Amino acid sequence: MKVEFSAFPKAFSGNVAVFVAAEKQFLATAKAIDQQGDGFLERAVAASRFSGAKCQLLSVLGHEKFGRLLLLGVGKARELDARAAESLGGLVVADANAAGQKAVTVVVDPVKGRLSPAEVAAHIALGARLRSYRFDKYKTKEKPEQKATLEQITVVVSTVADARRAYARLEPTVDAVFFTRDLVSEPANVLYPVEFARRAKELTKLGVKVDILDEAEMKKLGMGALLGVGQGSERDSQLLVMRWMNGPKGQAPVALIGKGVCFDTGGISIKPAGGMEDMKWDMGGAGAVTGAMKLLAGRKARANVVGICALVENMPDGNAQRPGDVVKTMSGQTVEVINTDAEGRLILCDAMWYAQEKFKPQAMVELSTLTGAIIVSLGHERAGLFSNNTPLSNKLRAAGSEVGEKLWRMPLGPKYDKLIDSDIADMKNVSNGRDGGSITAAQFLQRFVQEGVAWAHLDIAGMAWSGKGNDTIPKGATAFGVRLLDRWIADNYER
Ligand code: BES
Ligand code: MN
Ligand code: ZN
Repeated sequence: MKVEFSAFPKAFSGNVAVFVAAEKQFLATAKAIDQQGDGFLERAVAASRFSGAKCQLLSVLGHEKFGRLLLLGVGKARELDARAAESLGGLVVADANAAGQKAVTVVVDPVKGRLSPAEVAAHIALGARLRSYRFDKYKTKEKPEQKATLEQITVVVSTVADARRAYARLEPTVDAVFFTRDLVSEPANVLYPVEFARRAKELTKLGVKVDILDEAEMKKLGMGALLGVGQGSERDSQLLVMRWMNGPKGQAPVALIGKGVCFDTGGISIKPAGGMEDMKWDMGGAGAVTGAMKLLAGRKARANVVGICALVENMPDGNAQRPGDVVKTMSGQTVEVINTDAEGRLILCDAMWYAQEKFKPQAMVELSTLTGAIIVSLGHERAGLFSNNTPLSNKLRAAGSEVGEKLWRMPLGPKYDKLIDSDIADMKNVSNGRDGGSITAAQFLQRFVQEGVAWAHLDIAGMAWSGKGNDTIPKGATAFGVRLLDRWIADNYER
């Protein structure tokens, strides 16, 4: 689907979407079209519940000059922010595809709100693109009525050059989000650790330095916990190390760490069959980190950032690790593996330690589909945020709200930490019960944070995949975290 910007034409026709503000206030274009059409829009509104509330839609059909005439509620002036504009763009795309249309025009009448018309236009275009994502490469016989029909969306705005410029700044976001959604959507027979690393290697073209450590190299470094998880798999584990150092010379980087379990069977502590296919997206954290690196490089961010992904497959075979095994982490601390299904923390502790030893980061943010328990706590609305640093937490939360990737801070503390003490090793990988499962997982990770490092862990288990989708995200892989990380870096490290 293509996006174009254009100036106001003399007259409109075809599929046109126009703004209506709260309390049925028609903006200029809606008013003009209504007058030419003898008040047909007013009558349609009167016969409906449409009020012009933010993101409300009403399609008016049957007028001779127009195909679908879509009224777009923009709400009160101050409600039309970037997020709302993106939703509108996404809603227009969904409506057009549902109706089997090939082209649609969205008219951006000026609203005296937070954004200029050019910015509104650019964010409508962004939302439209984000909603248009499809992962259909494995469909060989799609019926015509299942296909996306929309080929072009034209955004009409008086300041075309400004809109094009604003959109050019946003476009790398689309590429990065799609890159992540592709990684996360791929089945595990296609995307295993080596293949993930190979795809990440493409970022070299954008100027990212990509290094890939194999099992022998990780063994030398002493990553016994990570390697223990991968040892039951035919597929080799990988540590993916990406560097984008475009900030001040000598300035310590920020480190992004991602959980990349390309498939999580649970290992010997095997998961039940129902829903196990979901565990192909247990690499959503690594997907987000890799997409964020692509976005930073794509927009040439002036920051020093390293992205490190622990890539493994958690399988049960004759060589798999057993419950009760004790492994030695790169930090030197030992772990009693009580449950092989609590594998995320085992690979992350070595990746985090490596990041700190090698890059001495000023801050470290880790993303993982770590616990089912976070879904019990927060559902699919917010990711859990665990941190040793309140300013960092607040900055991440702010970045998340700005891009619509919301976080909720969860507690940590010594009483929780004690729950993972082991009788025979330094710690065990799960506590005795299921209580506070997301918190004890975070406590485990915190034992691998070095003195003075600002650290945050985002448990995105409820957010990486969407069963129903939303205005700008079709159902499936969401790429949650890509925009959040990018915004956090833009707001805090590039000034
Ligand atoms: N990858 C899972 C967590 C998960 C569950 C992600 C559902 C997305 C959706 C993780 O490795 C896991 O298995 N966690 C266990 C931990 C338990 C054994 C302490 C869990 O949540 O049940
Ligand atoms: Mn697991
Ligand atoms: Zn897992």
